[in-house]
Amino acid sequence: MKKNIIHCLVFLIVFTSTLFAGNKKDKLLYKDAKQPIEKRIEDLLSRMTLEEKVMQLNQYTLGRNDNANNMADPVNDIPGEIGSLIYFSSNPELRNKVQKKAIEQTRLGIPIIFGYDVIHGFRTLYPISLGQASSWNPALVEKACAVAAQEARMSGVDWTFSPMIDVARDGRWGRVAEGYGEDTYTNAIFAAASVKGYQGNDLSSEKNVAACLKHYIGYGASEAGRDYVYTEISKQTLWDTYMLPYEAGVKAGAATLMSSFNDISGTPGSANYYTLTEVLKNRWKHDGFVVSDWGSIEQLRPQGVAANKKEAALKAFKAGLEMDMMNRCYDNHLGELVKEGKVSQEQLNEAVRRVLRVKFRLGLFDRPYTPESTEKERFYRPENLKIAEQLAEESIVLLKNQNKTLPLRRVSKIAVVGPMAKSQWNLLGSWAAQGKSEDIPSIFDAIKAEYKNQAEVSYALGCEFDGNDRSKFEEAKSIASKADVILFCLGEKKDWSGENASRSSIALPKIQEDLVMELKKLGKPVILILSNGRPLELNGLEPISDAILTMWQPGTPGGKPLAGVLSGRVNPSGKLAMTFPYSTGQIPIYYNHRRSARPHQGKYQDIPIAPLYEFAHGLSYTTFQYADLKASALSLKPDGKLTMEIAVTNTGDVDGYETVHWFINDPVSTISRPVKELKFFEKKMIKKGETATYQFIVDLKRDFGFIDEDGERFLEAGDYYVMVKDKKIKIEIVN
Ligand code: NOJ
Repeated sequence: MKKNIIHCLVFLIVFTSTLFAGNKKDKLLYKDAKQPIEKRIEDLLSRMTLEEKVMQLNQYTLGRNDNANNMADPVNDIPGEIGSLIYFSSNPELRNKVQKKAIEQTRLGIPIIFGYDVIHGFRTLYPISLGQASSWNPALVEKACAVAAQEARMSGVDWTFSPMIDVARDGRWGRVAEGYGEDTYTNAIFAAASVKGYQGNDLSSEKNVAACLKHYIGYGASEAGRDYVYTEISKQTLWDTYMLPYEAGVKAGAATLMSSFNDISGTPGSANYYTLTEVLKNRWKHDGFVVSDWGSIEQLRPQGVAANKKEAALKAFKAGLEMDMMNRCYDNHLGELVKEGKVSQEQLNEAVRRVLRVKFRLGLFDRPYTPESTEKERFYRPENLKIAEQLAEESIVLLKNQNKTLPLRRVSKIAVVGPMAKSQWNLLGSWAAQGKSEDIPSIFDAIKAEYKNQAEVSYALGCEFDGNDRSKFEEAKSIASKADVILFCLGEKKDWSGENASRSSIALPKIQEDLVMELKKLGKPVILILSNGRPLELNGLEPISDAILTMWQPGTPGGKPLAGVLSGRVNPSGKLAMTFPYSTGQIPIYYNHRRSARPHQGKYQDIPIAPLYEFAHGLSYTTFQYADLKASALSLKPDGKLTMEIAVTNTGDVDGYETVHWFINDPVSTISRPVKELKFFEKKMIKKGETATYQFIVDLKRDFGFIDEDGERFLEAGDYYVMVKDKKIKIEIVN
């Protein structure tokens, strides 16, 4: 008996040690964190079956299911081999369960990448991108994106479908809210800033997420401001208007891109070999992957370039689109297409390689699970709230301030009127991720808090956002009649902008205008406070308003930054990143239009041709005086060095931020150039009475040159103008 036990023990020791030794010897290379990523990818690829490869190229959704009782259902439904999932939860629990299935119940244990629309914050929301751009503070936007990344990654999200960097010039298009406005350079700067914020220096950090530049490309040109429709974009315009932000985002290291819904002059963005392969992969050497937009492969059918889903899969894949978001085209047809020889093994491998590369870089193979944490550890960290609040403050644009109506200092009775006044929900903005409206101070509450013990603040709804009900006008009139000043809190509901939220007119609904008109009769100062996701048509209200400001959709800080601007605690510094037209009929209207053959003619018979508020317009409570422009040289060769300078003095009596925008103008060129092109901007705090010097170090080819329809940059000899506000200086380039 004793002998038997000893035999057994010896056997066990020998067996386990050989097993252990065997394991050690056979340790799979792709699982070894010490090996270089490219080696790990190749090793893994060599072990994968056709089916496993195909599955890596698909993204499904992992429903909005955070009900503990049903938790297992989605886990069972999801194939463990899936490449990616869209993740809707605010904690990592469900993610970890599904990930466990991928890691432990599949042959190769390839982790899933979880993506989500973290567009302007995760739980801590900051202003919508159009508002962010109005801050002209990319360093602050970078910090805000880092906040979003930390909250998202700690909640189980590895990858955000952001930033949207579609240059957009038609305010009817609801998605103007999601981008950085009408200008190419501005979108490029914020593209790079947000990518850096999301991704940091190390994608594998537990605080960073992979970014996704979208929607590649030209989606902002949607005809007549309608969503998902055709876009007419010449190659010249593709390059000089739409490409630069993507190039900047790729250079900043963006791990992924999302292909667009739009048809680009006959070739949809999701089947466009030129943009997806020739430019992105061959020219810019992007080594991450492209995901389709939701259904954009399948939609090649209604767009008229594919007869069925299989053909759609073939077209999209061959064009250079690696991952299928909710089309069910790749999972159903790609394997077949490979077997039929229509897609080569090498093409398939290359696509899978790209997806795996991003997963490896995110560290998912080495740390597939998200550590559990409390909400307090993840969300609303005080330092994060501060960033959101500062960004919301800096994004507010003071559009009009007649006779220094604002700030409101010596008032004892303030009437707050209008449908936005007590709304929390609408201040969230579109794509509000895991934001919670109940955590947001309304405009009314914030004003009350700001003026505590200083002024009596009364409220009346006045009217709803739209409709014809004037029955509450009287009540509003009554409280307004007792006040020193009337604050009208107006604007757009949350879902009036964003995806599939076009409007044929960008005016405020008539009922809101009527409310102002009616109360104006009281003879009190009229202040318009607007929360909106697009530029608005204000020509009816502008003449009767003493002050107008837009707070966009500020997110979590809600009404507090606005209240600070009203009281003067915050000096507004935002400037428009998108023109406010005089009326919808002027659209498309943007500052950097090309020239007219007859500038003195071609006007409208019924409205002015100038916009109501132009690009970069925005007022401050102080005044800034601009000295003359200085140039280090007035005439130079194409390879010369040029530095421009301008001194700006704060001549008012409060400190203030001032953003200087540097434009150039090339009056005669081989191809006609826009009347003005933004090439640089910088924001600085200038204390009252002090002077700051702003510098623009010009790279002649980049800043004076133009790009042709093949994306080549040229610098021609001739005269150029550098412009800041009304200052202008001529620079000559000589051969
Ligand atoms: C469609 C939108 O166009 C895109 O921006 C978004 O990222 C995806 N849906 C995923 O929600």
